[in-house]
Amino acid sequence: MTKWTPDLAGRSGPAYKALADAIAEAITNGTLPTGSRLPTHRDLAWTLGVTVTTITRGYQEAQRRGLVDGAVGRGTFVRGSESLGQPPVMDNRYAVSLPIADGAIDMSLNFPTLTRQAGLLAETLTAVARDTDLARFLTYGPDAGLLEHRVAGAAWLARLGVAVPPERVILTSGGQQAMVATMMAVCRTGDCVLMEELTFPGGKAAAQSLGLRPHGLPMDAEGIIPAALDDACRIHSPTILYTIPTQQNPTARIMSVARREAIVEVARRHRLFILEDDIYGHLMDSPLPTLASMAPERTIYMTSCSKSMAPGLRVGFTAAPPDLVPRIAAGVRVMSWM
Ligand SMILES: Cc1ncc(COP(=O)(O)O)c(C=O)c1O
Repeated sequence: MTKWTPDLAGRSGPAYKALADAIAEAITNGTLPTGSRLPTHRDLAWTLGVTVTTITRGYQEAQRRGLVDGAVGRGTFVRGSESLGQPPVMDNRYAVSLPIADGAIDMSLNFPTLTRQAGLLAETLTAVARDTDLARFLTYGPDAGLLEHRVAGAAWLARLGVAVPPERVILTSGGQQAMVATMMAVCRTGDCVLMEELTFPGGKAAAQSLGLRPHGLPMDAEGIIPAALDDACRIHSPTILYTIPTQQNPTARIMSVARREAIVEVARRHRLFILEDDIYGHLMDSPLPTLASMAPERTIYMTSCSKSMAPGLRVGFTAAPPDLVPRIAAGVRVMSWM
């Protein structure tokens, strides 16, 4: 219990409001730190020589102003971050905290072995510094990225089976930002987002952090089962399906062409958007058709250099139907300065 005695002398208005004002002041000047427990109603009433009702009303007023939280029997506490909503959760604490023993293989994160990348980056940065007017990178750029970068993105996406003009490409800070920007662009708070029942945790975290409702779909050896998708569409009226058709993370499953066709057919029937996460598509010797090539009118396709070059580059490319490009680009703008 915090030993705190407010000084109500000289405060105007009713005593209970003066008490709430004193609490606010003590929080601001640090006398009452986050989480500290206020004196009991009875003790404070005794100390100040006022009725218990006055203290109760004062604490209620402080609670109404969002300064404290109280529960019968538990006491009254200065509000801290624990009273806020759930933060976005992506459980990678094992990856960042455990030391890797000599000779052990770290399976907690997956990205390309970083052998030649540092040397190539040094060469490229030197060339960029010599050849380019660097000053133009110091101003704000267009929301979807500089045209030359979108041209490079379109060329990269063409190799992965997505033929789009540069105007349909949006640069993102990795795949994670693409997911959030896409969900921001097409969903409203509370909408249902379908995804594989076992999936990349970033997809679920993206949906949850936007106040959306992630819902997992049953899978078989080829990924999402079309009949289950159909059922979920009828029951949950989802806005978008987030799926990883190729080398699904974490199951490594690959949707056959027939399965892709069936998924697209259900999506069309229910007017469902598809967010195709093809971050591992480049690993295929014989690439399968992308969902974006099969249903370009409703598929937002995303990939990132994290799994093909290096995750620290934080460069991703997204291709979207024309009317969604400005919406997704606006989401990127909200999240970054790019
Ligand atoms: C399937 C999948 N999508 C997206 C990401 C995130 O991509 P980025 O690191 O570019 O944000 C990952 C990273 O592990 C992933 O496995």
